[in-house]
Amino acid sequence: MRASHNTPASLDPRLGGRSLRRVVFDEATIARRVSELGAQITDSYPDGDLLVVGLLKGSMIFVSDLVRAIRRPLQIDFVAAASYGAGTTSTGTVRLVYDPETRLDGRQILIVEDIVESGRTLSRLLEVIRTRGPRSLAVCALLHKRIATALQEPIRFVGFDAPSEFLVGYGLDHAEDYRHLPYIASI
Ligand code: IMP
Ligand code: MG
Repeated sequence: MRASHNTPASLDPRLGGRSLRRVVFDEATIARRVSELGAQITDSYPDGDLLVVGLLKGSMIFVSDLVRAIRRPLQIDFVAAASYGAGTTSTGTVRLVYDPETRLDGRQILIVEDIVESGRTLSRLLEVIRTRGPRSLAVCALLHKRIATALQEPIRFVGFDAPSEFLVGYGLDHAEDYRHLPYIASI
């Protein structure tokens, strides 16, 4: 089944009868944008190595689509940072629960994040990664709520400006549910 703006999201069997407020970005819209981001990233790294570091778990689906749209050699790693519990508001603390063992010194690094809200998760992660001496460090976020105050620098690659609603799907969760929805919806 393909969810689109024409398909009432409440009919999606993935939801188990729960309802969504609305589909914000459908599958085709996401696929188009991911392909554009891939081309933009390809053009931005004409030479050297590239290490794509996805922030678990939210970025896993985005990373897997994005890397297939980047037409140059690259490597993939993941890091996990937990800033939210089961609720829909930030607790303000960011815990790094896994560090990549991969060497980062002298490398071109692209951090991939699902959604930027306060920017706390990212700024903490960037701080840690910077101490490891990468040659360059940039961020690609699928969604940006444009309310981040914790970020020192702008995010280089942004998929979509996100509405100030709580979004789920395409990797984004609410209490670990909804990550497998192929579209992005608000609840
Ligand atoms: P920040 O640290 O406040 O920028 O929050 C970023 C993290 O919070 C993301 O990596 C998500 O895991 C989570 N988050 C923020 N907004 C949403 C949302 O609308 N839906 C699902 N998760 C969100
Ligand atoms: Mg999350």
